[in-house]
Amino acid sequence: MTEKGESDLRVRTESGVRDLRAVWFEDGAVRMIDQRGLPHKLEIASFSHYAQVADAIRDMTTRGAPSIGAAAAYGMCLAALSGADLGAASERLKAARPTANDLFFAVDRMLGQLKEGADPVVAADGYADMMVDKCTRIGGHGSPLIKDGMRVMTHCNAGALATVDVGTALAPIRRAWSEGRRFLVYASETRPRLQGMQLTAWELGQEGIDHAVIPDGASAYYMGKGVDLVITGADRIAANGDFANKIGTLDKAIAARHFGIPFYVAAPVSTFDFGTADGGGIEIEQRPEEEVTEIYGRRIAPDGSPALNPAFDVTPAGLVTGFITENGILGPGDIRRVTGE
Ligand code: MRU
Repeated sequence: MTEKGESDLRVRTESGVRDLRAVWFEDGAVRMIDQRGLPHKLEIASFSHYAQVADAIRDMTTRGAPSIGAAAAYGMCLAALSGADLGAASERLKAARPTANDLFFAVDRMLGQLKEGADPVVAADGYADMMVDKCTRIGGHGSPLIKDGMRVMTHCNAGALATVDVGTALAPIRRAWSEGRRFLVYASETRPRLQGMQLTAWELGQEGIDHAVIPDGASAYYMGKGVDLVITGADRIAANGDFANKIGTLDKAIAARHFGIPFYVAAPVSTFDFGTADGGGIEIEQRPEEEVTEIYGRRIAPDGSPALNPAFDVTPAGLVTGFITENGILGPGDIRRVTGE
């Protein structure tokens, strides 16, 4: 298992405190925290075939763009170690979920390195370490935005679980808290999969960061009462700065603009997709309607009522105050300069 330095996933279990990553490689298998069981059950899933890793990305055993990318990198690692066809493995992994750019970035990067003869485990571990380093730098750039006494809103989970470790949107929050500033985080619950309530609140609670879970529909209400800053993650950012993130992000960006609240997007540069001109070109994943109509397997919608379940929405660049990247904070107008593209 690769545990590099201080981990933010410092998990309290019955047997004590364990430092974990969201995804790692150990004894020939890809391991990941099964995020579907949190916050009540901490279980580690283990996979020895790349197709199982693809399924685990699809069924959201692991989720969040950088963790999806790292899982896919380890999936490519398994494919290489078993002598499987790397082209077929890359196609299978890329088909797992369509929206997160990191999935495609990670698979292509691994494919290139493996073709050049890289050690599969070293290359995949290197990918995961690189993401953690990027998130740490995002925390450093974003932390000064958070001052004592602020109220900060986030959506979904863009924390350590979503990014191997540290987080994107949660990285500045963690850093500011560790630097001694005290503030309140509103974590919106994030229907239908509840990543905000079940994962973000769990991560914040592990570290003693003041927070409150709010229903998604209460976001504008609290903004009206006084939110100082909104920070979300992103799954894919088009060349013009339009970005896809968890469904409900757009509502927050619109409400933030209405109330004059700064709205930041924290994401590594690998999230930028310069091949897609604007948000209209981003594929939005449609997930099973049972995620909306059922809770813990029990139907709560009327029999016969269909449901729609887009996993992401697209927020126009014009609503973004800045992108917090590992290379600094940039406005929608200067994406290419800071990313070096
Ligand atoms: O469907 P999910 O849980 O994978 O969606 C996650 C998000 O939308 C995150 O905000 C995004 O991946 C950024 S993670 C740092």
